[in-house]
Amino acid sequence: MSTVTDQFRTVFGEEPEGVWESPGRVNLIGEHTDYNNGLVLPIALPQRTYAAARRRADGMLRLTSTAGGDVVEVALHDIAPGVPESWGRYAAGVLWALREAGYLVGGLDIAIDSTVPIGAGLSSSAALEGAVAAAASDLFGLGLLADDSTRATLASLCQKAENVIAEAPTGGMDQAASLRCTEGHAILLDCRNGHVSQIPFELTRHGLVLLVIDTKAEHANSDGQYGKRRAACERAAALLGVASLRDVPYSHLGQTLHKLEHDPELFTRVQHVVSEIQRVRDTVEALEAGELAEVGLLFTASHLSLRDDFEVSCEELDAAVDAALEAGALGARMTGGGFGGSAIALVPERLVPGVEKAILASYERKGFRKPAFFLATPAGGARRTE
Ligand code: GLA
Repeated sequence: MSTVTDQFRTVFGEEPEGVWESPGRVNLIGEHTDYNNGLVLPIALPQRTYAAARRRADGMLRLTSTAGGDVVEVALHDIAPGVPESWGRYAAGVLWALREAGYLVGGLDIAIDSTVPIGAGLSSSAALEGAVAAAASDLFGLGLLADDSTRATLASLCQKAENVIAEAPTGGMDQAASLRCTEGHAILLDCRNGHVSQIPFELTRHGLVLLVIDTKAEHANSDGQYGKRRAACERAAALLGVASLRDVPYSHLGQTLHKLEHDPELFTRVQHVVSEIQRVRDTVEALEAGELAEVGLLFTASHLSLRDDFEVSCEELDAAVDAALEAGALGARMTGGGFGGSAIALVPERLVPGVEKAILASYERKGFRKPAFFLATPAGGARRTE
């Protein structure tokens, strides 16, 4: 990636020792289930974040980005919750988490460039963490890119960076997708034990594509709503006497909800999480059986559950889903944390122009910002580029 290398040279006046890349993701299904020890099914995107890096001997971390802004500079021993400020904490947090876990990691100069749209709910932060983690692992000889089990370790350290240093109470899906996905597959991640199964995700032979609609609507994980949903799930689990909502079997959903009838908020949150985990299982089964129409129905059911029960959708996401379905998509849903960001639609290839047109027309009618579209294909996880 010459852009990121140029940036490195211009700002630091030296050659980087290498360039590493890590992808953004879209989650096919299994939303707000990761922090409930549930199941998720993301794919990694061809869109990536690149990190050009070089070791330093003085224990300092310096960061620059092609997106502009000042160089972020912090001593490794000063990294703490909220320090450094702004985007730099996602990168610094990774070095902090590696050191906390006992890995011998020193200072670095890092230049960042990214093709993952920022604020689109496509995990630009996990892509940044993954690229820095990959660079640190190689440059300090940690060997954490070696196989899926070492990548799982790296993913959980990236999650720790995000939770502790970036102070975002997210689950582990995004980091796992960025580090553990393989080309042509979605990963079925069991968040209870970290186990990953590679699920072939091939749409072309069905004449289908996965259309991503970036709504361009405001989106922030840290505005409190995400944390509130997570706290409600934890409250519900405590009330039900289970370690996490994963421990409520789908076959017991009816009787479990009966116990929550006095609390409409917890009732709907539990209804979403438990049914969504089952939809992940059903989606994998439908994918394996080649029943793509069924996958579409599950996508749409997931959206309705997120909209009505978990209440994390927004007008722009709903409008994209509605217009896509009206124009012939087999299914559509919001993806990621919600409150803005992106939606996905499973669309017969020949209907893509019509679906895009319908969404654009609906957005114009409603006075929303113009959305952006791209077709998502399942790519591989973090690796060394140069
Ligand atoms: C965000 C978080 C993930 C996950 C999703 C919702 O993307 O970073 O951990 O909780 O929201 O599924």
